[in-house]
Amino acid sequence: MYGVIRNLLFRLPPEQAHNFALKGIDFADRLGVLNALSPKIDALPVNVMGLDFPNPVGLAAGLDKNADHLDGLGNLGFGFIEVGTVTPVAQPGNPKPRMFRLPEHQAIINRMGFNNDGLDHLLERVDKRRYKGVLGINVGKNKDTPNDQSESDYRKGISAVYTRADYITVNVSSPNTPGLRDLQFGDSLKDLLIAIKDEQLKCEKEYGRYVPVAVKIAPDMDDEGIRFVASALRETGIDGVIATNTTVSREAVAGHVHANEAGGLSGAPVREASLRVIRGLYAELGDSLPIIGVGGITDGDSAAEKIRAGAKLVQVYTGFIYRGPELIREAVEAIRQIK
Ligand SMILES: Cc1cc2nc3c(=O)[nH]c(=O)nc-3n(C[C@H](O)[C@H](O)[C@H](O)COP(=O)(O)O)c2cc1C
Repeated sequence: MYGVIRNLLFRLPPEQAHNFALKGIDFADRLGVLNALSPKIDALPVNVMGLDFPNPVGLAAGLDKNADHLDGLGNLGFGFIEVGTVTPVAQPGNPKPRMFRLPEHQAIINRMGFNNDGLDHLLERVDKRRYKGVLGINVGKNKDTPNDQSESDYRKGISAVYTRADYITVNVSSPNTPGLRDLQFGDSLKDLLIAIKDEQLKCEKEYGRYVPVAVKIAPDMDDEGIRFVASALRETGIDGVIATNTTVSREAVAGHVHANEAGGLSGAPVREASLRVIRGLYAELGDSLPIIGVGGITDGDSAAEKIRAGAKLVQVYTGFIYRGPELIREAVEAIRQIK
């Protein structure tokens, strides 16, 4: 069924297809037929960061940046949904076209640039949701905020979403906001993590509830970088790490007509790089700090391999665009086999 829909959608330019598909999901949800169209997914409960997930396969950030489609997406069988990245104030993102399909590689290149409607809009949408499942909210910084003031944007994001999120993701790894990924290294990372922890504990005091915070990192990191991130996360008491975002490497798609488009590459070509980061993090952290594995999951095997490498949960984005909701069922079943 999804194959037919996908063939029609793929005739449209990627961003248009994306918006059209999300509207279609909303429409089917309102008609009450979405459940019937989605595969039946048997529960595979898991507790991570103190939260109960009905299954370990979630939707990664970026598909529903404004939480406009939570109810529909929440009806497809995901174990959790991460919305965002949301920035303190709305921003348009980069000029179009800014998303490219590489079907031969089951991949996408995007340079969206955190196009989103800002915190107020997202909170309003979250407050109106019917979705009852686990909700992650991914926060970032506005493009116009200089890196040395990024702390203030992340603090704004955390405090604004604190009472609504089950967990919060701090995104320091998008390649499409100039300089953002510099926040993953050295003193910039340590200082930022200290500020994030401080904001989280302030909010805990104010609202009387502890909401875990995870940090999302890039796959383009050498072994030393991975070790540094792991120790900084541990020292500052961050609750989880999401590995990984898209890659700036084009090695795996060299020669493709879109290979030289600027932006982040996702889907099958990022699978190995993401796995390498997960393995490196797990070697440092063991089970002390949960890893959420994302990058290049296109079938059951690629999902299970991330869990075997040490991830406690996984997320999908590009594979979901290519495979539809069947991917969720396949991933859950493959993970069930290794439990
Ligand atoms: C079009 C597009 C937009 C994305 N936007 C975001 C975003 O706003 N925030 C974020 O943390 N990750 C974003 N991502 C990255 C995904 O969440 C994910 O980490 C990455 O694509 C690797 O997973 P995949 O291979 O399953 O797609 C985006 C990815 C794509 C393809």
